[in-house]
Amino acid sequence: MENLDNFSFLDAKPIKNSFAEQIIEGLKKKNKSLPSSLFYDKKGIDFFNKITSTEAYYPTKTEINIYQNQSKLISNKLDRNSALVEFGPGDMSKIRYLLKDIKPKKYIGIDISKEEVKNEGKKLASEFPWVDVISVCDNFYNENKITVDLLNSIKEPKIGFFPGSTIGNIEPGDAKALLIKLKKLLGLNSKMIVGVDLLKSQKIIENAYNDPEKYTEQFNLNILNRINNDFDANFNTEMFEHFAYFNDQRNRVEMHLRSKQDHNVLVSDLEIEFKKGETIHTENSYKYSVDKFISVCNSADLDCNRIFKDVKNWFGVFLLES
Ligand code: AVI
Repeated sequence: MENLDNFSFLDAKPIKNSFAEQIIEGLKKKNKSLPSSLFYDKKGIDFFNKITSTEAYYPTKTEINIYQNQSKLISNKLDRNSALVEFGPGDMSKIRYLLKDIKPKKYIGIDISKEEVKNEGKKLASEFPWVDVISVCDNFYNENKITVDLLNSIKEPKIGFFPGSTIGNIEPGDAKALLIKLKKLLGLNSKMIVGVDLLKSQKIIENAYNDPEKYTEQFNLNILNRINNDFDANFNTEMFEHFAYFNDQRNRVEMHLRSKQDHNVLVSDLEIEFKKGETIHTENSYKYSVDKFISVCNSADLDCNRIFKDVKNWFGVFLLES
């Protein structure tokens, strides 16, 4: 698979997140927190993939179902011979359902995980020999000149693809700012396809984050192992339990790690005190009503051209235009 004519790789050399500072800052606060981006080390990615295979975690399968059943309808709204730019493609599984109908000339996948974006890009290129695949290692939250220049050099009309309801893991105000950034990266007259988990019964949402297989619990606790391994700390995962609930005031699932008893932890040279029952807030996952997400898009000067939903109205794929 080494010499594929339709594959290239660009390392935009993204500036690494300064996790160390964020960890200390978050753990010193009265209401302790950790950045959810810390979840995704190799083990975390494996746990996340396991979560998506459970019965309880509905978002991934529901979204894929929309692409499987409505790929033609979605692509009817889009230009042929475009350049499709996916933000955070991971294993590039979702785009496979759309490629045959959208028929882009180019596919550009931008992901922070260098080996994954390179390897998955090669696989995609060999499976779809008629698409030029460009894998880019970058953090698309930062406006990196190398990626900006690459996208500017591409003359085909651009379609952004931001699936997975990843947009739900940031605050709605930050979602607006991110949409503005992505719009700018894609340039004039571009379109965007954004996958968003919608509001539904609290029970269904809470079950998705409390799967009986306990993969979400392991995913959540793994953040402590990562800090122990990468940042010289001595968290004992046995001292914490997974706690996830739907905050109906803020329309978001909150994931926490709750201390089972009073104890202290060393992170670098800092001693952090935990009281029994105290939590570390590790993630928010916002669930949107259609109207609320449209209003976020409108505030970013994006119009919603169409929404594709599953039969239960659990997940929305929003087609946006500037
Ligand atoms: C990646 N993101 C959209 C997932 C979510 O549902 O918010 C992450 C996740 N957290 C727990 N389970 C899955």
